[in-house]
Amino acid sequence: MHNMNKVKMLSFKQNGDDRGHLVVIEGNKDVPFDIKRIFYIYGSDPNVIRGQHANRETEFVLVNVAGKSKVKVYDGKGNEAIFILNRPHTGIYLPTMVWKDMYDFSEDSVLLVLASEAYNPNEYIRNYDEFVEEIAKEED
Ligand code: TYD
Repeated sequence: MHNMNKVKMLSFKQNGDDRGHLVVIEGNKDVPFDIKRIFYIYGSDPNVIRGQHANRETEFVLVNVAGKSKVKVYDGKGNEAIFILNRPHTGIYLPTMVWKDMYDFSEDSVLLVLASEAYNPNEYIRNYDEFVEEIAKEED
C-alpha cells in the first residue's frame, strides 16, 4: 500500500452550545497516535510554501483552528493530493514518509500541528529527490 492511502481527513466533534464551540483532541482517541508535541504556524505570507519535507518517524495532524490553508501531499510514487483546511473541527492525518507542502495561507490562518514525536531535525528529509529515492528503496 502506498502511503497516500493512509492520508485521511479527520472530523472532530464540536461541543457547541449558546456559549460557543469547544473541540477536544485526545491522543490515541481522536488522532491515531500519542501526542508528544504541538506547534502552530501563523503570520505566513500567502505566497510562501512551508513544509517541503517528509518525516521518517513523525506522524502529524494539521488543523486550521482559524483561517485557511492548503496542504499538498506527495507519496513519492507519482501520487499527489490537495487538501483544504478551513474548519477548526477538521484535520488532516499525515503518516510518516509523505512529502508535504503547506501554502495559500489566509492572513488570519493559525495552523495547529499535532505531532507523534518530539522534534528531531535528523528525521526530516528536506530534499525531494532523496525522499523519492528512500521511497523506492522501501519497495525492495
Ligand atoms: P520548519 O520545519 O522549517 O517549519 P515548516 O514545517 O512549517 O516549514 O521549522 C521552522 C523552524 O522552527 C526551524 O528553524 C526549525 C524550528 N522547529 C523547532 O525548533 N521545533 C519544531 O518542533 C519545529 C516543527 C520547528
